[in-house]
Amino acid sequence: MGSRERFIERVAELARVGQLQSPCLAMSRGIIREKAAQCGAGIPGVRVYYAVKANDDPEVVRTAAEAGLGFEIGSVAELNEVLHLGVPAERVISSNPIKSPEFIQYAVSRGVRTFAFDSRAEVDKLVRLAPGCEAVVRLAVPNEGSDWPLSGKFGVEFGPAVELLAYAKVKGLNAVGVNFHVGSQCTNLYAWDTALGLAAKLFEEAADIGLPFDLVNLGGGYPSQYLKPIPRVEDFEDRIVKSLARWFPQGVRLMIEPGRFLVGEAGVFVTRVIGKAQRQDGLWVMVDVGVFNGLAEALGGIRYPWRTLRDGRKVKVILAGPSCDGFDVIDRDAEIVEPEVGDMVLCLTAGAYTTVYAARFNGFPLPGVKLIED
Ligand SMILES: Cc1ncc(COP(=O)(O)O)c(C=O)c1O
Repeated sequence: MGSRERFIERVAELARVGQLQSPCLAMSRGIIREKAAQCGAGIPGVRVYYAVKANDDPEVVRTAAEAGLGFEIGSVAELNEVLHLGVPAERVISSNPIKSPEFIQYAVSRGVRTFAFDSRAEVDKLVRLAPGCEAVVRLAVPNEGSDWPLSGKFGVEFGPAVELLAYAKVKGLNAVGVNFHVGSQCTNLYAWDTALGLAAKLFEEAADIGLPFDLVNLGGGYPSQYLKPIPRVEDFEDRIVKSLARWFPQGVRLMIEPGRFLVGEAGVFVTRVIGKAQRQDGLWVMVDVGVFNGLAEALGGIRYPWRTLRDGRKVKVILAGPSCDGFDVIDRDAEIVEPEVGDMVLCLTAGAYTTVYAARFNGFPLPGVKLIED
């Protein structure tokens, strides 16, 4: 039995004996440590920055800090959280390409030196508020093979990126490299090769105008195990190393910013069935965590594995949350052993992008987070 299966068994046992009340997100410290050790292990010289937005629970962040990771933050609150843990500012970067002036000012005052940009307005802000910082251009790259695409809102296309760098040069911005995001929950082993090819071409354009680029940030994107099979992290990193040899034979400073990979599989939501209803389209099962208090990514198509604490044959059900809102539907095609009202039901791979989104809509409580020492 692997560490993930052992953790799920442990949570099931704690739920059975009433030591975990629903709704609650149980997080495995051991799995976070395991993932922290795996991430980047196959890419010589890469520095790993945990994307705090994936799960900002203080104990989760502490575990990442103790594992020696750096942090990617996007807000004053995230920055304060990591600094309060005693993480030095040189281990903190911000890769959000659109930041408020107040945030930039505050981050600079606390010692953060690496910021992203993908527009002229951001170049202007950084020149004014973060002179001398390391600025990294966010390049739009294909997000094919990712279940949670990010390109579109973020990143500048290659052609406009060349023009933007010329603008940055004229303005005196200390632009030092490129970052990108292949999209979250990426299962395409070749995604980084395409992105690195574009980054290498941008390095050439930068050199032509006298910007000495030496940094590539590989972004996030490593997947967690939900319902569909995923490649192993070793296979991603093997490919990335081959692509780096192809596109950057001279070597380059490397960063990576895992979010989902670090915490997704380390989390199990403990939920309780509050009601059932047979309707025309099937059997509806309502649990006490829905899209408004933890499972928001279900609205964007993320499908979680579920497990009831009963033996039996699996049936198709429509899983929904507790609120009086028609959008509060988690999965129209879930397959689980049919639970009874009052049963605990576990939602697996729930450690990333869940509690961080949760709101008190309709008066339902925010799920607690409980670190399990394993
Ligand atoms: C700038 C940045 N870096 C890293 C991440 C983490 O990505 P993932 O959870 O896919 O690893 C994100 C996620 O949105 C991001 O916006």
